[in-house]
Amino acid sequence: MQIIPIPCLTDNYAYIINDNISKIVGVVDPSEATPVIAFLKKKNLQLNYILNTHHHFDHIGGNLELKKMYNAKIVGFEKDKKRIPGIDIALTDNECWKFGSFELKIIYIPGHTLGHICFYFENEKVAFTGDTLFSLGCGRIFEGTYEQMFSSLNKIKNLPKDTKIYCGHEYTEKNSEFCISLDSRNKKLISKINDIKLKRSNNLPTVPSSLKDEIECNIFFRCEDEQVKSSLKMKNNTPIEVFMKLRDLKDNF
Ligand SMILES: [Fe+2]
Repeated sequence: MQIIPIPCLTDNYAYIINDNISKIVGVVDPSEATPVIAFLKKKNLQLNYILNTHHHFDHIGGNLELKKMYNAKIVGFEKDKKRIPGIDIALTDNECWKFGSFELKIIYIPGHTLGHICFYFENEKVAFTGDTLFSLGCGRIFEGTYEQMFSSLNKIKNLPKDTKIYCGHEYTEKNSEFCISLDSRNKKLISKINDIKLKRSNNLPTVPSSLKDEIECNIFFRCEDEQVKSSLKMKNNTPIEVFMKLRDLKDNF
């Protein structure tokens, strides 16, 4: 399985999934059609599927143009089918679906929106987390509750540690500033930040991250860490209370 990030708009990523065996090609969250078409043309590829993690315009903006051009099928969450333009294949939570020679599983992860899903390729250990889990951050809570977002992040946290995380935006460097402001003694985080800065200075993407890195460095996954709790003066608070505080602080960071 070949996965290629395609930078779109200001800081979005669409991802081309190329199955070299079956020659099936998909794109996850095409914010816009033009850069996706340019890549497909350059590589002489046809597009079979468009996969949407959620309905926001910067994840579905290229749907209809790509569908028309390639006769591609659009795949999204059943409960959000009214908000996914051009949807053809509506999948449900925990449903497994064949993508060429691979199989993906739908993990329902509400919070950012109420119809947000993760595309999880269990055998390849790849997760497309959209705007729910970012590298070193998480999405804003627009439609769901704090509890829903916290529980969705925990669903991802429980996947195998070597799962590769492909998220919807290149927010990593900015997110790292928030993490380090409250977790300054975290050596893994310090080392990850060095790596991030090097990549960004060479104009390279910071994706994919690994779930192991996120568990060790992403502050939203560290709501039980004594150091983090101490920075927040929340030593006696529960993990969900810490999460709520972090999300509010990040909204105004
Ligand atoms: Fe979004």
